[in-house]
Amino acid sequence: MEPAVVVYEVGPRDGLQNEPEAIATAAKVELVDRLARSGLRRIEITSFVSPHWIPQLADADQVAGQVARYDGVRYSALVPNLKGYERLRAAGLGVAALFVSASETHNRKNVNCTVAESLERFRPVAERAGEEGVLLRAYVSTVCGCPYEGAVAVGKVAKLAADLLALAVDEVSLGDTIGVGHPSQVRELVRTVSNAVPLPKLALHLHDTYGRALANLQAGYEAGVRTFDASLGGLGGCPYAPGASGNVATEDVVDLLESEGVATGVDLGALVDTTAWLEEKVLKRRLPGRVLRARLGLRGRACEGAA
Ligand code: HMG
Ligand code: MG
Repeated sequence: MEPAVVVYEVGPRDGLQNEPEAIATAAKVELVDRLARSGLRRIEITSFVSPHWIPQLADADQVAGQVARYDGVRYSALVPNLKGYERLRAAGLGVAALFVSASETHNRKNVNCTVAESLERFRPVAERAGEEGVLLRAYVSTVCGCPYEGAVAVGKVAKLAADLLALAVDEVSLGDTIGVGHPSQVRELVRTVSNAVPLPKLALHLHDTYGRALANLQAGYEAGVRTFDASLGGLGGCPYAPGASGNVATEDVVDLLESEGVATGVDLGALVDTTAWLEEKVLKRRLPGRVLRARLGLRGRACEGAA
C-alpha cells in the first residue's frame, strides 16, 4: 500500500544530539542505513551546527559523507546559518533544515541571536538553496510553550511560519520542543497556522515529556496534518531546553497509524530490530518507546544488562 502519511525520522539528529556519551561515527552511519532499510523515506541524519555547542554531532561532515544513499530516501540535516549550509552541500546532502524558536529566550539560548536575526541568517541560505535545487525544511520550536517564557501565542507561531514560507521553504515543522502541548491546543495550532502554511506543507514535531505526544499526533492527523516527526525508541531531547524528553517514538507512531488503517510504508519489525540493536550494541541502555518495549517483551529479547 502507498504510504498515506510521512513518518520523518529525526532520531539520528534530535536523539543523538542529546546523548551524554560519545557515539562512534560508524555506529551513526549504520543506524541511518538500518533506518532507511526499514522503510523510512525521510531521515534527519545530523546537524551542521557549531561543534562547541553540540559536540555530540561534531562528526556531521563524516556522517553525511559516509551514509549510503538509497533511491527515494531524503537525508536532511540541521543548518543554522550559511556556514552550516555550505558544510551540508560539501557533504553532498540535498535537504537542509533551518530552525528558529517562536519564543525569543529559547532562540537566544539555542542559537545565540534574536528571532529576527535568525530569519536574516536564513535569507542567504534560502537564496542558495533556490539556486542549487536544495529542499528546505524549517522548524518552528516552542510552539506549545517555552521553557523560559511559558505560554506562546498561537498568532506568533503563525506569523513566524508565514515568514518562513516567504523564504520559499518547502515544509514547516511545528515543534512542541518541551512536550507541553495538549490535543485541543494542537488542533487550534494547526487550524491557525494552516491559514498561513497549506496543510501539505505542515509537519508536527512532538516531544513526549508529558506523555501526550501520541494524543497530540492524533489530534494533528484529524486536523489534516500528514507528516509527523518521530525518533526511534523515543530517543532524545533538546540540550537547550532543560527537562525536555525525546520525540514521540517512531514505533508508537507506526503502530498507532497502521492500527487505524493508515499506511506508513515502515516495516515495524525491522524498525524494532534496529532500535534493539541501538540499545544493545551502541547505547547500552533501554529507550522509553512503549511499542518497542512491548514487542521486545513479546519476543523475550529485552535488552540485557540495561536498567
Ligand atoms: P555563536 O557562538 O554565536 O556563533 O553560535 P558565531 O557566529 O559567533 O561563531 C562562533 C564560532 O562558531 C566561529 O568559529 C564560527 O566559524 C563557528 P571560530 O571563528 O570561533 O573558530 N560556527 C560554526 N561552526 C560550524 N558550523 C556552523 C557554524 N556557525 C558558526 N554552522 C551558532 C551560533 C548558531 C553557530 C550556535 O549557537 C549553534 O551551533 N547552535 C546550535 C544549537 C543546536 O543545535 N541546538 C539543538 C537543535 S534545535 C532543536 O533541537 C529543536 C528542534 O528539534 C525542533 C523542536 O524540538 O522544537 C529542531
Ligand atoms: Mg526536537
